[in-house]
Amino acid sequence: MSISGKIAVVTGASSGIGAIYAARLAQRGYDLLLVARRGERLHSLATQLEQNFAIKAATRVADLENEADLTALATTLAEDPAIAVLVNNAGIARLNPVAEVSPQDSLAQIALNITALTRLTHAVLPAFKARNEGVIINIASALSLHALPISAVYSGTKGFVLNFSRGLQQELANTGVRVQVVLPAATATDLWDAAGVPLATLPKEAVMATEHLVDAAMAGFDMGESVTLPSLADNALWERFDTARAELFAAMQTGQPAPRLLKL
Ligand SMILES: NC(=O)c1ccc[n+]([C@@H]2O[C@H](COP(=O)([O-])OP(=O)(O)OC[C@H]3O[C@@H](n4cnc5c(N)ncnc54)[C@H](OP(=O)(O)O)[C@@H]3O)[C@@H](O)[C@H]2O)c1
Repeated sequence: MSISGKIAVVTGASSGIGAIYAARLAQRGYDLLLVARRGERLHSLATQLEQNFAIKAATRVADLENEADLTALATTLAEDPAIAVLVNNAGIARLNPVAEVSPQDSLAQIALNITALTRLTHAVLPAFKARNEGVIINIASALSLHALPISAVYSGTKGFVLNFSRGLQQELANTGVRVQVVLPAATATDLWDAAGVPLATLPKEAVMATEHLVDAAMAGFDMGESVTLPSLADNALWERFDTARAELFAAMQTGQPAPRLLKL
């Protein structure tokens, strides 16, 4: 399949994981639509990638927490038949106990990590399904599977990304549309300082370089993985977890209160 003239959309392409996805997709020959709020950064990345890889890179300054910006971008995505890949990467973390952050901080995480990702997925899906072709890559987190005392909201949003993606994968199982969900653990980006947990305070050995993260995630994609845990050496651990999850779900379909919960 030729990718010439096909566009990959990367949200949150102005830094971190999104900027590396943009570079790697350009290297594969995709034209790009780079989205974030910091237009200068997008523009300089676009110029550099156009020069390095002989592709076309457009930029879109959009605040994806803003309804008008989100709707406008969704309209562009829905109407452009060249769009073949959507990387739902833009995300924020505010790592503090819920009682110590403002409701606005919590709602901003939900707006970007959940609402924008869902809205943009809706935008591309009908055309992807009609063409029986297209790729959606959703950036979740190791915290999709785990909650810390400082990550209740962030973990909640990333739990959504995981379950949303897995449901979509089942809906699209017999189509040519692929959904990959990626669960990075700690990665060396600006996210941490903005989250209130300085990157410098994390154990160095637990933090992955951003390039390694994206290259491993893309290797997972190329191998046909639908759920990729880029830092997990023993993937059998994930498979056991997922099998236990399915068994647990099945075991809950009894229609009866559990014996331990019946009044004596
Ligand atoms: N770093 C980690 O350890 C880690 C681990 C697991 C998952 N993740 C996930 O990886 C994804 C990328 O994060 P990152 O680590 O690369 O952090 P990052 O360097 O801070 O990148 C976040 C990106 O999102 C964009 N963004 C933030 N708010 C936005 C808004 N309101 N509208 C549009 N774009 C917005 C930022 O651009 P502007 O500021 O220019 O808008 C930036 O390009 C996120 O979904 C994050 O949750 C990261």
